[in-house]
Amino acid sequence: MDGVTANQLSGGFFVGLPNPPSAHTHLEILVNSTTVVSARIEDETVIGFITAVSDGVSCAYILHLEVLPAYQGHGIGTALVQQMLAKLRHLYMIDLVCDPSVQPFYERLGMRPVVGMVVRNYGRQSCDPMVPGQASWPEESWMPLQKAVFWFQAGSVKVAVSYAAYGSWLGIRVTAG
Ligand SMILES: CC(C)(COP(=O)(O)OP(=O)(O)OC[C@H]1O[C@@H](n2cnc3c(N)ncnc32)[C@H](O)[C@@H]1OP(=O)(O)O)[C@@H](O)C(=O)NCCC(=O)NCCS
Repeated sequence: MDGVTANQLSGGFFVGLPNPPSAHTHLEILVNSTTVVSARIEDETVIGFITAVSDGVSCAYILHLEVLPAYQGHGIGTALVQQMLAKLRHLYMIDLVCDPSVQPFYERLGMRPVVGMVVRNYGRQSCDPMVPGQASWPEESWMPLQKAVFWFQAGSVKVAVSYAAYGSWLGIRVTAG
């Protein structure tokens, strides 16, 4: 992504995410990806992008594909996928995860559906950096879907034990009240 700035990524990507990455984090996502293809207009604003990570030898995963709503329906998404598949064509395995509603879009481009498994840490959706040495995790970073709370009575004190996935960490928190 030579020369792309966070400013050029401020068009409103990650539509529909309640806690989207900032433009700066978006830039980090692009810089850290193995392969990126972008669509840009004259003033260099990015209007669409696709990213993949790869071991370079055998496999690649396509992680993000998005075209800004105002530019959808003009073949940009198709061109981004075609260019990415062309860049990765030396590999055995090229995978991505999508909703069933988007499968026809990818099937037109030669991909086929399979069954997969995923984890989603919704508390990490914005991808904001973790603070080094942080003693406890911010409440909003706890992943609601995997949080479980067990209550038990210890004498006159009610104790709550909860756990949550935080990035690659699994945390346990005990609160008494
Ligand atoms: C999916 C997306 C990238 C397609 O980009 P686009 O530039 O609008 O796509 P194209 O103009 O190349 O569309 C080509 C064809 O795919 C169809 N298509 C586009 N988006 C589709 C979708 N979400 N589901 C099913 N079909 C879709 C179009 O109707 C068009 O069909 P046609 O040629 O018969 O008219 C875009 O809709 C988008 O950014 N969506 C939000 C993010 C998203 O869902 N990304 C995919 C994550 S897996």
